[in-house]
Amino acid sequence: MTVPMTAGSQAASDYVLRVENLGKVYGGAVALRDVSLAIRRGSIHGLLGENGAGKSTLVGIMSGQRQPTTGTLYLDGVAIGHADVPSMEEAGVFLVTQEPMIIDHLSAAENLMLGIWPRRFGFVNWRKLRKDAARMLAGTGIDLDSPAGKLDAVARGASSTSCAPCSAAARSSSSTSRRRP
Ligand SMILES: Nc1ncnc2c1ncn2[C@@H]1O[C@H](COP(=O)(O)OP(=O)(O)OP(=O)(O)O)[C@@H](O)[C@H]1O
Ligand SMILES: [Mg+2]
Repeated sequence: MTVPMTAGSQAASDYVLRVENLGKVYGGAVALRDVSLAIRRGSIHGLLGENGAGKSTLVGIMSGQRQPTTGTLYLDGVAIGHADVPSMEEAGVFLVTQEPMIIDHLSAAENLMLGIWPRRFGFVNWRKLRKDAARMLAGTGIDLDSPAGKLDAVARGASSTSCAPCSAAARSSSSTSRRRP
């Protein structure tokens, strides 16, 4: 995939997330070649391409899940040396995948906070977990205590999307100790 940057006359710092000259090689396969893309705060972008074009690779790199072979990622105009998932989530970049990662026998609340369950004195702080989850799920109609396996496809998707701000907030709080896998 080769994507030109559409920066126009905007200054580099106007962009919340930017990649420049990204390349990704898997063994002998070139997935990305010289990809540059700039995303302004508050804007919405669509990324289209045929199968194998490199879409997953690109968003994987932008979310810290994969490392580029070449090129640079910038957050608010600042070059990031090594982007990983926790640091990107803390910066507000969260990848919601098509296939939500949900553990059926855990409750909706437990799934929502998966990997970032709040702790107190070394134990899971269930009261805070439910309180935080209730806040994140407000208005979705999803029952906190419902086993995730019983949620329908729409609720599973909504639950997965609700994780994003929740996870980012939890990462910048000192009350959590585990990482989302
Ligand atoms: N882990 C990997 N190991 C080797 N090659 C890979 C790996 N992941 C992706 N590729 C190759 O990199 C190229 C881009 O793949 P990628 O999955 O990013 O494309 P995509 O646009 O997301 O495709 P799709 O529409 O099928 O999801 C493809 O040629 C693919 O075979
Ligand atoms: Mg893909």
